[in-house]
Amino acid sequence: MTVAAASPGMVIAIDGPSGAGKSTLTRLLAQRLGYLHIDTGAMYRTLALAVSRSGISVDDEAAVAALCQGVVIEFLRDDDGYRVISDGEDVSLAIRTPEISMLTSRISAQGAVREILLKLQRELGKGGGVILEGRDIGTVVFPHARVKFFLSASARERGERRYLELREKGAQATLEETLAAVARRDEQDAARELAPLKKASDAVEIDSTGVSIESVLSRMEQVVRERIAEPLGG
Ligand code: DC
Repeated sequence: MTVAAASPGMVIAIDGPSGAGKSTLTRLLAQRLGYLHIDTGAMYRTLALAVSRSGISVDDEAAVAALCQGVVIEFLRDDDGYRVISDGEDVSLAIRTPEISMLTSRISAQGAVREILLKLQRELGKGGGVILEGRDIGTVVFPHARVKFFLSASARERGERRYLELREKGAQATLEETLAAVARRDEQDAARELAPLKKASDAVEIDSTGVSIESVLSRMEQVVRERIAEPLGG
C-alpha cells in the first residue's frame, strides 16, 4: 500500500471569496506543515498594478495581455511570510489598495491574463509541498489536488475584516464603502465566465463566521493529517 505520507508533499488548494481568511490561514497552515505558500491573488494583483501604471486601457485585452506577459513576479520569503517583488520592486503594499483590488477583479476575468498565470501557478505547484490560495485552484489550476478547502464567512464579517485590515494600514475607507466594495468584487469574481469563484464538489467547506482563526486552523490541519494517512486514491 502506498501512502501519501511517503510522498514529498501534496498540493493543497484553498479557495474562497475575499475576506474569508484565506491568506492568514494559508500562511499559518503552510508554516505548520512546512509547505510553500503561493498567493495567486497577489499574482493577479501584481499584473493589475502593472496595467494601472502603464496607462493602457483595461478594455484593450490584447495590450493588457502583451504587457502582462512581460511582468516578472517573485515571492521573497521572510519571517512574516513573503514580500511580492515585481521587476525588482517590492510591490507588497502597492497591490493592496482598494483601486488595485477592483482593477484586479476586472483583469482577472480576461482569458489571456488567466492563461499566463495558470501556466505559472502549475509550474510553481508541480513538485508538491505547496498550498495555493485563490478562487479557482481546486476547480481549474489543480483539479486533482489531494486536499481542497473552500473558506467562507458571512458577507458582513468578510467586509468587517477587510475594513479592519485597511484601517490598520492607515487607509481612510469607511465600513459602508468597504462592505459595498467587497460585495461588488465577489459578485464580479463569481459571475465571470472564466474560472469563476466556485466551490469544487470535493472541497471541504469551512464557514468561519464567528469562529476563531485558531479553531479553523486546527480543523484544516486535522483534515490534512487525515488525508496524509489515507491510502493514495482513497
Ligand atoms: O485573493 P485576492 O483578494 O488577493 O484576489 C484579488 C483578485 O484576483 C480577486 O478579486 C479575483 C482575482 N483572483 C482570481 O481571479 N483567481 C485567483 N486564483 C486568485 C485571485
